[in-house]
Amino acid sequence: MRGIIIVVWKKIAKKGAVAPGKGRAFTVEGRQIALFNQDGYHAIDDLCVHQDGSIAPGELDGDIVECPLHFWHYNIKTGELTDYLKDVKLQTYPVDVRDDGIYIDA
Ligand code: FES
Repeated sequence: MRGIIIVVWKKIAKKGAVAPGKGRAFTVEGRQIALFNQDGYHAIDDLCVHQDGSIAPGELDGDIVECPLHFWHYNIKTGELTDYLKDVKLQTYPVDVRDDGIYIDA
């Protein structure tokens, strides 16, 4: 038997709501999600595994965001933590940019 995958796109922001090279936090059905505008839009859980900091306001260096609290680093495209612990990934979400706004599948 084949499973059915249901994709439910949710509009989270207007186009232009996140400045190029920046991130911004949005709450989507009780989850805080960071949306980054860097080489396209990328959505990732906004919850640093160190001490639950928000990574959305972190500095970006290419695909890497630095948590502003204690400087752990994540890849915004894969969710991967790139230092301190192995095999740690934040959840990432597909993003669709449409004429009327930015949607994520969360
Ligand atoms: S909470 Fe992110 S590095 Fe400490």
